[in-house]
Amino acid sequence: MRTRNILLASLLIALYGCQPDTSNKPAAWQLADKTGCFQCHITGKNLLGPAWQSVSERYRNNPDAEAHLMNKILNGGGGAWIDKEMPAYAEDLLTEANRKILVKYIMSLK
Ligand code: HEC
Repeated sequence: MRTRNILLASLLIALYGCQPDTSNKPAAWQLADKTGCFQCHITGKNLLGPAWQSVSERYRNNPDAEAHLMNKILNGGGGAWIDKEMPAYAEDLLTEANRKILVKYIMSLK
């Protein structure tokens, strides 16, 4: 019985250990995760879309960055980085307020 409990406990630890703990990530990260942005963007390197750190670096001194990125997420499109299109997130998929949260988050990455 005791052995079984120990086995069960190690199994749980193993299972839990496989799941990256994302509960300490900021709310904006959770929002991006929920919206599916990380299917194509992961932080730190280029996947299908550019790494958000690179986005932040490119637009850091650009006063139009926020407007441009807000628009890009709403309308989608390609050509800024690669010959692939970023999908459009219409208002019913992502509200303007949430788009703003994501853009501010992306621009805060270093
Ligand atoms: C299906 C894949 C995919 C998903 C999902 C996706 N993106 Fe993208 N994203 C791309 C691609 C491809 C580009 C590069 C477009 C280009 O070169 O103009 C891009 C570019 C961007 C850029 C840079 C735009 C620019 O003009 O410099 C931002 C910011 C961005 N994505 C944010 C997001 C956010 C926020 C989400 C989630 C709401 C998201 N992406 C979801 C594929 C994706």
